[in-house]
Amino acid sequence: MSVIKTGFKFPLLDLKEINIKHINEFTSFFKEYIESGIYILGKNVEEFENKMAKYINKNYCIGVGNGTNALEIAFQSLNLSSNDEVLLQSNTYIVTSFAIKRINPIIIPVDITNQGIIDIEDIKRKITNKTKLIIVVHLYGDCCNMEELSNLCKEKNILLVEDCAQAQGTKYNNKKIGSFGDISCFSFYPSKNLGAIGDGGAICTDREDLYIKMKKIRNIGSIVKYIHDELGTNSRLNPCTAKILSYKLDYLDEDIMKKRELVCEYEKLLDKNKYELVYNRDKDVFHSYHLCVIRYKCDSKFTYRERLIEYCNNNGVEILVHYPNLFYKNHIFKELNNYELYCEKFIENIFSIPLYHTLSKENVEEICTILNNFTPFYISNADP
Ligand SMILES: Cc1ncc(COP(=O)(O)O)c(C=O)c1O
Repeated sequence: MSVIKTGFKFPLLDLKEINIKHINEFTSFFKEYIESGIYILGKNVEEFENKMAKYINKNYCIGVGNGTNALEIAFQSLNLSSNDEVLLQSNTYIVTSFAIKRINPIIIPVDITNQGIIDIEDIKRKITNKTKLIIVVHLYGDCCNMEELSNLCKEKNILLVEDCAQAQGTKYNNKKIGSFGDISCFSFYPSKNLGAIGDGGAICTDREDLYIKMKKIRNIGSIVKYIHDELGTNSRLNPCTAKILSYKLDYLDEDIMKKRELVCEYEKLLDKNKYELVYNRDKDVFHSYHLCVIRYKCDSKFTYRERLIEYCNNNGVEILVHYPNLFYKNHIFKELNNYELYCEKFIENIFSIPLYHTLSKENVEEICTILNNFTPFYISNADP
């Protein structure tokens, strides 16, 4: 087995490879952008916002600087107070928790199922008359039963924000993820299914009041020049990025289909005695596979994960864990550190394997052979 020393033969994601084939289009967009003389907001951003709103099936979309700002702006718009309770999915990437922490409500972590999605039964147990908001995070491109969750929120008069940073193109019962909540937030960080060449983000909503408020917040509190009637920030989607995203949006569904085919190959070829793919088995879920997450079955605590990662790295396969740490165990959330949830076990034996739409079936076959040949008896470099 030849190992490329300067990088992985099979990286988790090859950003250059997936973007280089569009280099001529991107170069012409950049030239047009410079020649236009319009460097902030304008036509390109509006066109992308309209296209994205239509794709998600929401009335409004606002292009912002990144997914973190999308969440911060969304949470600011909801007028929460420090007495309000907010239920937040426990295994989220830390960003979601930081964004809500800035508003300073009472945060309650909600557990997940063994498929890595929010546990709606745990939500039901944790709702009180102080619950104002539920934040669901569609990690890896997967989702929970969004009809049940949005109906529950409507019935209890609780706001719902969807963190769709990892789930562009995911559907539940044929409806796009991001169309269920009061607000949905997107990231166009380069590694995402709809990834920019740099940072980018968007916020979608059907509510006109929230749309106007969030549009002001992204632009220093203003939609009319020099009238600043919201406490705003500066987080505007770049016009050249907007043009690239509009163009890439046309390829999104096709790219997802290719990823789904590769995941089927993984499912077929990985040794079922050793590995199990982690995803929601509900047939109404259309997973967009931002990440392909698997679980090593042989060892419930997975004491061998470090060894497996080293073995894969030495054989040219990049492996990462999404995510090794939980927000409510972070010192910034010291009031939550004593929570004990199933998700602590969940994160112990999961890891992500290479997946991007330009990966070939032959590559997947080779990666599976490497993974299937792993045994806990692999001699690690760290072994004495
Ligand atoms: C679940 C989740 N939320 C929010 C974000 C923040 O997005 P950004 O990196 O564009 O700020 C990310 C980015 O990785 C994410 O994965």
